[in-house]
Amino acid sequence: MQLQDKSAIAPRSYDIAEWHKGYRSVSQELDYEIDEIEGEIPVELNGTLFRNGPGLLDINGQPFHHPFDGDGMICAIAFQNGRAHFRNRFVRTEAFVEEQQAGRILYRGVFGTQKPGGILANAFDCRIKNIANTNVIYWGGKLLALWEAAEPYRLDPQTLETLGKDDLDGLLPPGGAIAAHPHVDPVCAADGGTPCLVNFAMKPGLSTTLTVYEFSPSGRLLRKRSHATPGFAFIHDFAISEHYAIFFQNPVSFNPLPWLLGLRGAGQCITFQTGKPTQAIIVPRFGNAPVKTIPVEAGFVFHHANAFEQDNVLVVDSICYEALPSVEPGADYRQTNFESLAPGQLWRFRFDLERGTVEQQRLEDRCVEFPSVHPNHVGRPYRYAYMGAAHHPTGNAPLQAILKLDLLTGERQLFSLAPHGYAGEPVFVPFPDGSAEDDGWVLSLFFNGKQERSELVILDARDLTQGAIARLTLKQHIPYGLHGNFYPMTFHHF
Ligand code: CO
Repeated sequence: MQLQDKSAIAPRSYDIAEWHKGYRSVSQELDYEIDEIEGEIPVELNGTLFRNGPGLLDINGQPFHHPFDGDGMICAIAFQNGRAHFRNRFVRTEAFVEEQQAGRILYRGVFGTQKPGGILANAFDCRIKNIANTNVIYWGGKLLALWEAAEPYRLDPQTLETLGKDDLDGLLPPGGAIAAHPHVDPVCAADGGTPCLVNFAMKPGLSTTLTVYEFSPSGRLLRKRSHATPGFAFIHDFAISEHYAIFFQNPVSFNPLPWLLGLRGAGQCITFQTGKPTQAIIVPRFGNAPVKTIPVEAGFVFHHANAFEQDNVLVVDSICYEALPSVEPGADYRQTNFESLAPGQLWRFRFDLERGTVEQQRLEDRCVEFPSVHPNHVGRPYRYAYMGAAHHPTGNAPLQAILKLDLLTGERQLFSLAPHGYAGEPVFVPFPDGSAEDDGWVLSLFFNGKQERSELVILDARDLTQGAIARLTLKQHIPYGLHGNFYPMTFHHF
């Protein structure tokens, strides 16, 4: 599919050297009430934003090959009556503690980090370093740092102290993996309208076994369904609708030999198979109706924005790339040439489950990532999508803005902090007494390349064009992160 018009290259809205500065290790774990505030924190905004991402990019100057190999660090920003408190802590995984004590890299990373000592030091060392760096959720009374290739780590939500690995009440075997992208069904049809958390696990082999798990608000396993799909699968995220869990199995192959021989990380042995279709795997969440697989021309998908059912059509909105960006052994991620890469763009897929057909349509040309919706509209018809976005409407570039897309009218609103600001994932927080779908705030952690510090930006989700309600400048920088969530409990005593 034609993803972009490559002739339309916009002038740069950013300075690449400044962008680099967001990729530096964090050296301090801090606790403080935020006092550098432009604007005012809404007094109705009460709760805690938890966010995960790589906090280390090196150990004693030995660089990780890719930020995705960086050890997870949780930031918690707690709000109460117009005040905000910041705290950051590394997830003290076993490997993190060992490497900090040794002062050097002891483990290979999935995305190409090698131990010092060349091939001989790395060949046949297939231990996985659980870096717990991708997402952080509070569910069933537990705060869990998630990484898709191993078990979660549990943390104290007040102090962010690491409490240890968590096997989800015996569900996971030692080292057992669960994905880092759970979705909460706000009104589960099978549970009398109570919320449930849906997540999945993948077991690789000649065929890949996908298992969908659904958990009650207390963390109890409600439902489990497994499905084997032919071939290797690399699936980071999925989508849920009222009755389905939807997976996009992108066309990739895996040759583990260079990994075994110490030449590449496991993630670098995945090759995108251009021209082959993605398989959309549609798993009924309740009952025993058969799983449906429908081929789609979808490029590569990391994240889905949402899915819903309407008039016998299953709609899935996803951010698509032309191909899986490769992480080459000799390449330095900081030398990324954005202009040479195709952007991620939002597409809509409309599946006719009776006929097994699909129609697809591009919804947004702009380079976007980290889609977010009102939590009560997850898996349901929705009107507004919020995404991290490039400053210019065409071409590929770092995320410097938050885009609100009205899927009904096509209206777009952009809040940009270009040229010095670099956006993180937007998190939608509903107003406590809100009724409209956009009655809420959007929170996003930006890196400010000029100040070399990060700031939390609070936007009015109804109108991004009015600028920030408040900008809270932190005392340090937070490296470009991954995912997080907001909960209405304030996990701090002011
Ligand atoms: Co993700």
